[in-house]
Amino acid sequence: MSEIPVISAEAVFAAVSPADAVERTRIAFERYARGEWVMPAKVYLDSPPHGDFRAMPARGDDLALVKWVTSFPGNAERGMPAVRGVVVLSDATSGEELAVIECSSVTSLRTGAAAAVSAQALAPPQAAGVGVIGCGVNGAWAARCLAAAGYGPGVCFDSRPDIAGALAAELGWGVGTRQEAASQDVVVTVTPGSEPVVLASDLQPGKHLAALGADAHGKAEVEREALGRCRLFCDEWDQASAGGELSGPVEDGLVERAGVTELGAVLTGEAEGRRSEDEVTLFDSTGLAIQDLAIVQVVWEDWLAGRVDAPTVSL
Ligand SMILES: NC(=O)c1ccc[n+]([C@@H]2O[C@H](COP(=O)([O-])OP(=O)(O)OC[C@H]3O[C@@H](n4cnc5c(N)ncnc54)[C@H](O)[C@@H]3O)[C@@H](O)[C@H]2O)c1
Repeated sequence: MSEIPVISAEAVFAAVSPADAVERTRIAFERYARGEWVMPAKVYLDSPPHGDFRAMPARGDDLALVKWVTSFPGNAERGMPAVRGVVVLSDATSGEELAVIECSSVTSLRTGAAAAVSAQALAPPQAAGVGVIGCGVNGAWAARCLAAAGYGPGVCFDSRPDIAGALAAELGWGVGTRQEAASQDVVVTVTPGSEPVVLASDLQPGKHLAALGADAHGKAEVEREALGRCRLFCDEWDQASAGGELSGPVEDGLVERAGVTELGAVLTGEAEGRRSEDEVTLFDSTGLAIQDLAIVQVVWEDWLAGRVDAPTVSL
């Protein structure tokens, strides 16, 4: 019989700062690129017309996990989170289950962290101003992680002005129009992906876009013409080409594997990142299980060190 902790969102946020999340997420991308961490493709289970469930496994550093998580975009209108679920963490050397962890906290930290890691790797060195388009749960964490990585101040835009106002007030940033947010050096989009929120007319030289909201087939946040003018990067080709910002253009034959670089390869130095100050870079984030493992590993280390407050259950 195993006695395992059940770790709440509050405990996850107490254990993992945005700065930790950025650092450990960067390391996770590097380890995955080097083949040290492994991750089969995530499995989608559609639940039309509401959204979908995803099962996301990963293994690294003698830990293994599966995240069982939703994307129910219409939930915002019902006052419910779009993303929810649990992570089950196991010992990868014995198979023993180690913990059950609330997953939207893990998702938010690793999603926001990926935006910051992509900016550190791909934005020009002088980039500072941040535009946040979509300031809901994950947009807010992207802003917090970018702020923790030294970016800002920023401009927050959301179709719900109160949401943008709350995030701007928290970070000491401003509220603006979509165009004002899209004109910043680093622009992160975290909307449900049902309409373009970055247009070709927004693309001034040297911009970095982190497109986070389109993480399933049929979603897109960047106008096709705009996408065609960007150097393209993604978190993982198979996942991004099947269910990310790039999946529509891939399906239509406009984007090919050779035209897209994985972020991990840039971080390890295997592939070239930004080639000039004028290039516009676009990072398509679909969200990887190795990113979840990066955050959960910190939580687990803190639990072992007695720093996480969580009840335990006997299975
Ligand atoms: N890439 C990843 O790793 C990853 C991880 C988690 C979630 N997501 C995706 O990100 C998206 C947002 O997730 P969330 O949990 O933050 O949802 P959320 O509902 O908390 O936030 C979405 C926000 O977008 C705003 N919005 C909607 N349409 C807009 C528009 N046209 N312009 C500006 N704002 C608009 C909404 O008002 C809301 O505040 C979803 O599609 C989700 O599937 C991606």
